[in-house]
Order: sequence, then structure tokens, then C-alpha cells
Amino acid sequence: MPKILIIEDEASIRRVLVKILSEENSSYKVTEAEDGLVGIELIKKEDYDLVLCDIKMPKMDGIEVLEAVKKIKPEIPMVMISGHGDLDTAVNTMRLGAFDYISKPPDLNRLLNTVRIALDRNELVVENTRLKKKVGKKYEMIGESEGINQIKDMIEKVAQTEARVFVTGPNGTGKELVAHWIHQKSDRSKGPMIEVNCAAIPSELIESELFGHVKGAFTSANKDRAGKFEAANGGTIFLDEIGDMSLSAQAKVLRALQENKVQRVGSDKDIKVDVRVIAATNKDLKHEIAEGNFREDLYHRLAVILIKVPALNDRREDIPLLITHFSNAIAEEHGTAKKDFTDKAVKLLQEYDWTGNIRELRNVVERLIILGGKEVSEADVKLFATK
Ligand SMILES: Nc1ncnc2c1ncn2[C@@H]1O[C@H](COP(=O)(O)OP(=O)(O)OP(=O)(O)O)[C@@H](O)[C@H]1O
Ligand SMILES: [Mg+2]
Repeated sequence: MPKILIIEDEASIRRVLVKILSEENSSYKVTEAEDGLVGIELIKKEDYDLVLCDIKMPKMDGIEVLEAVKKIKPEIPMVMISGHGDLDTAVNTMRLGAFDYISKPPDLNRLLNTVRIALDRNELVVENTRLKKKVGKKYEMIGESEGINQIKDMIEKVAQTEARVFVTGPNGTGKELVAHWIHQKSDRSKGPMIEVNCAAIPSELIESELFGHVKGAFTSANKDRAGKFEAANGGTIFLDEIGDMSLSAQAKVLRALQENKVQRVGSDKDIKVDVRVIAATNKDLKHEIAEGNFREDLYHRLAVILIKVPALNDRREDIPLLITHFSNAIAEEHGTAKKDFTDKAVKLLQEYDWTGNIRELRNVVERLIILGGKEVSEADVKLFATK
């Protein structure tokens, strides 16, 4: 049940609000505070979903309460209550971050409506923060080798810019991870990050996937649809496995990059898009260009900044850190206790030939945790990490 705090010095108004919110409509748990100081103390201790706060109060007025709440728990929506004399102030509180305001005496419908909207929006915000945290963890980049440190440095530098980035490297080395980091650290992080796996989409569908289509453009196009470039507006588009993109789609991507405009399939109307492009491939594009499979002009458009992610075999000093990281992450995923690896087990894994790179290492760690003993030993590695 959503928890609402009412901060209001006039007992009669408090009574009306409580009556509307908790008695007539029993779906809220309502707490009262007779002044701002008491209110703030309650907010520090308890997680409220919404605060209703009077503007004119002795001791501490509504503006001060609003400012304090924005500092301690900025995610809580605040609805201000204004009397006759302070309507202008009420409007101003919105600039200070109040969600909305209602006038005294509170109108039943308007109050319930405002409360419902504020609570709905808050649920979205909370869900978003939760997702962001989860994503943050999923995309942790582990490693202290020179190779990884250089990549972290480059990410820091390029994230601040709008430059296009091309990420190359063998299978499972972390190219997707690099792309996510760049987006997360950029000014575009509040915008969308749209991924397109160019290898997974049949070539006849890729153009419609990237640029959208209008109704009737082809047999199954029964309504207008926006493509991924439009969806990524204000954010980043990640063209993964771009080495597998058809030549005709490449031509259209090139045009989109040159003009910052796209056309839906079946339409000649230009749609302006503001999108940062990050591309990745594990193919040797120089070779693909020589073979005529990849457009050189597109390559140069994309590769303003080139990030080459090194193979795991070239940064073996990161393996112990990665083992610990994955072992903890997997225990958390499975909801089981963490498992340690003996030094000898780690050393043996450090000597393996990791053709599948970090993805392969993660799989092997998971297998060892499931099949190995309480502590993963050298013998476990010999038995279960066979390749
Ligand atoms: N430095 C790192 N620290 C922790 N985890 C990593 C690191 N690099 C990669 N990973 C993890 O390894 C897995 C593979 O990484 P990712 O998908 O980014 O690789 P990729 O280069 O895009 O692979 P592919 O070429 O197959 O598309 C993912 O689970 C990723 O989170
Ligand atoms: Mg990838």
C-alpha cells in the first residue's frame, strides 16, 4: 500500500486530507506531521511514496521542506498545498522540483487525481533506478592489465565526445561491454541505447529494422513502423556485428551517417535523427573491404575512434581478478555461497588457451562452481575445464 506523508500545520486541513486519502479511499497509508521539522525527521526514517506539504507554515516553510527533501530523498514526489495568498509561490515550487500543487481547501477529485499520477510516475522512476543499478553491475569491466587500462582511458575520453566509435576484437572479448560503457558515461546516458545485431537479422529485413517502414512498403508491412535509428534518437545506436551487414543496407547507413537523416522503407520523407553511432565486429574489416564485402567509405565514417579489445591470452594477468568476479557474480545469480579457487587452480586456468576469451572463461568458472568441490581445486580444473 503506498505510503503518504502529510505535512500541514492546520489541524482542520490535515483532517480533511486524511479523510479523503485514508478513510474514503482506503488504499493509502497516511501519516501526519504538524510541521516541517517533524516531517523531515519522518522522511529520514521512513520511505514514503509521496509527500503532501503545506507552503505556509511556522518554523520551516514548505519551500525549505521541499529543498531539504530534494537533498535527502530526491526521488520522492512532493505535492505542495497552497493557500489563497501563495498561489504564485506554489507555481514556483514546480521549478524547485515539486511534482504539482493543490489549492486549499482541497478538492476531492483533484487531490485524488494528483496523488494517483504522482504515485504512478514515482513507480516508474524507482523501477528505472533499480534497472540502472542492475545494468551497472552487469556491465562491470574487470581488469588491471595495460590493455584494459588503455581501453578504460579511451572510454573516458571518447564518452565525453560525439565521435563515432568502432570496436573490434575477437569473440567474447568485451566489445559489447565497451559500447555500453561509452553510452553510460556519455551525456546521452539519459537517452536510449538501442542495440542492433546485424548478423541476426535477415538481410531483407535489416533496412526496415534500422530505418522503419511505411504501411504497404512490402507485403507484411501492415502499418507504419519506426526503425531503430529513430528509436535511438537522443541516445546511442549500437550496430553490433556490422561486418555482416548487406551492401545495400551499408549504403543506407552511410547516407544516414552523412546527413543525420533517415527515410523509412517505402517513403521518401526525410526524418532527422540525433544519434551517436557505435559499431562493432569481430571480422577483419580490412580483409572484408579487400574482398568487396564492406564499403571502405562506411568504414572511415564509422572508425573515427578505433578501439581494439585485446584477446584474453594477451592479458592473462587479469584472469585471477576475472575468476573472482565471475565466481561472486555466479554465486549471487544462483543464490548460493561464494566458492574460492585454490591458487593452483587459478594458475592452471591462467595458462589455458582462451580462444573464446572472457565469455569462455565465464562459462568455465560457472561449470567449475557447479561441478567442483567446496573449494575449486587444480584437480577440478583438470577434470572439468577440459576443452
Ligand atoms: N573486462 C570484463 N570484465 C568483466 N566481464 C567482462 C569483461 N569483458 C567481457 N565481459 C563479459 O564477457 C561476456 C562477453 O562479452 P561481450 O558480449 O561484451 O563480448 P563481445 O566482444 O561483444 O563478444 P562477441 O564477439 O561474441 O559478440 C559478457 O558476459 C561480458 O559481460
Ligand atoms: Mg558482441
